Amino acid sequence: MAGRRRRPSLAQREVLRLNCRSSSRSPVPQVHSRCILRGMPVIRRARLSDLDALVALEQASFDHDQVSRAQFRRHIASTSAAVLVAEAAGQVLGAALLFFRRGAKSARLYSIAIVHTARGRGLGAALLEAAEREACKRGCRAMRLEVRTDNAPAIALYEKHGYLRRRREPGFYQNGMDAWRYEKPF
Ligand SMILES: CC(C)(COP(=O)(O)OP(=O)(O)OC[C@H]1O[C@@H](n2cnc3c(N)ncnc32)[C@H](O)[C@@H]1OP(=O)(O)O)[C@@H](O)C(=O)NCCC(=O)NCCS
Repeated sequence: MAGRRRRPSLAQREVLRLNCRSSSRSPVPQVHSRCILRGMPVIRRARLSDLDALVALEQASFDHDQVSRAQFRRHIASTSAAVLVAEAAGQVLGAALLFFRRGAKSARLYSIAIVHTARGRGLGAALLEAAEREACKRGCRAMRLEVRTDNAPAIALYEKHGYLRRRREPGFYQNGMDAWRYEKPF
């Protein structure tokens, strides 16, 4: 973590903004807002017009188990999935993919990724919190996820947000790497 800037995350700044509505603080994410202000990160549902950006982000962020364009297309239209994107100035800076099962009380966070140049600024945290809100809205009581055991930034993000390590899944990924299973009860 050496060299990473220690300043309030976008998620923390969103809280500051809620506590101080008249303040002219730095831009904060507006969750599911229809009003996109230039340069201000917005978290919203993905559209078919985001497909190019979603595929580019996926390819830049993961070297295995990539979600294909056809899969993203299906997930965007599906009621059992939610694709959220963080956008600023018309550019997709991050995405999260969530799955829901009929009757299940937990949602599954399949992936979350931020473009390299926008990492370390709180966008991952803001997307994770938006994903949790989406799960709550759908009546889920918990979020589950898997993460590669060597993915230190993601593990730190999840643990900071209260995710509890459940168990190791040997050979979980296509490349044979192990995963940790995490869960966060709401
Ligand atoms: C994991 C990822 C989504 C984090 O996004 P981000 O926008 O950079 O994260 P944030 O700036 O919101 O950081 C939130 C917290 O995550 C943790 N974190 C993020 N990057 C970290 C890093 N490089 N090293 C250690 N901890 C890190 C920290 O706890 C951080 O809180 P802090 O800033 O108060 O220390 C991003 O690194 C990424 O896209 N990685 C590639 C894709 C991936 O591996 N996704 C997860 C598996 S699906």
